[in-house]
Amino acid sequence: MGDAALRPAVAADAEALARLHARAFPVGWSAHEIAGFMQGHGGYALAAEDGAGRLAGFILCRAIAGEAEVLTLAVDPGLRRQGLGRALVEAAAAFAAPTCEALFLEVADDNIAAIGLYEGAGFARVGVRHDYYEHPDGRRDAIVMRRDLNS
Ligand SMILES: CC(C)(COP(=O)(O)OP(=O)(O)OC[C@H]1O[C@@H](n2cnc3c(N)ncnc32)[C@H](O)[C@@H]1OP(=O)(O)O)[C@@H](O)C(=O)NCCC(=O)NCCS
Repeated sequence: MGDAALRPAVAADAEALARLHARAFPVGWSAHEIAGFMQGHGGYALAAEDGAGRLAGFILCRAIAGEAEVLTLAVDPGLRRQGLGRALVEAAAAFAAPTCEALFLEVADDNIAAIGLYEGAGFARVGVRHDYYEHPDGRRDAIVMRRDLNS
């Protein structure tokens, strides 16, 4: 992961997170939406920063009633394949583990990079949600994945 560092993200980071999110996904989320998730019930987020303190990636999650969920994960396109995505997932899992049995997520069925990351991080496929994602070329199915946090 080089000289990157992880820290909790707060609502004041929402503009920067939204800018990074817009560079990582075909359909972006506004800073308002991201701040709403962070401040909502069970919301938490972690940011990765490069050595100069610039945002390099983030993960946004929600932990409610013993189950946690990854809402979104993005790494700066110029800083991928350096272990940041994996480090963010591991930190999010560690944060949830004391109170949650499992960490869930949805991933588009054509997102080879993310599926590779999640399978390598111990997530298993547990379902499919048809036409779950908006996409400029039409809708995409989501694969639902689960990682046990108790083992
Ligand atoms: C998915 C994403 C977060 C991965 O971030 P990253 O920092 O590059 O991931 P890592 O460097 O930690 O990669 C961990 C593993 O994931 C897999 N992986 C990552 N990118 C990959 C790619 N382009 N192709 C195939 N496998 C890939 C590999 O197994 C990799 O391990 P390796 O580098 O030792 O081979 C990043 O590509 C991204 O922001 N994508 C756009 C947004 C997105 O799709 N988010 C996930 C939504 S569910």
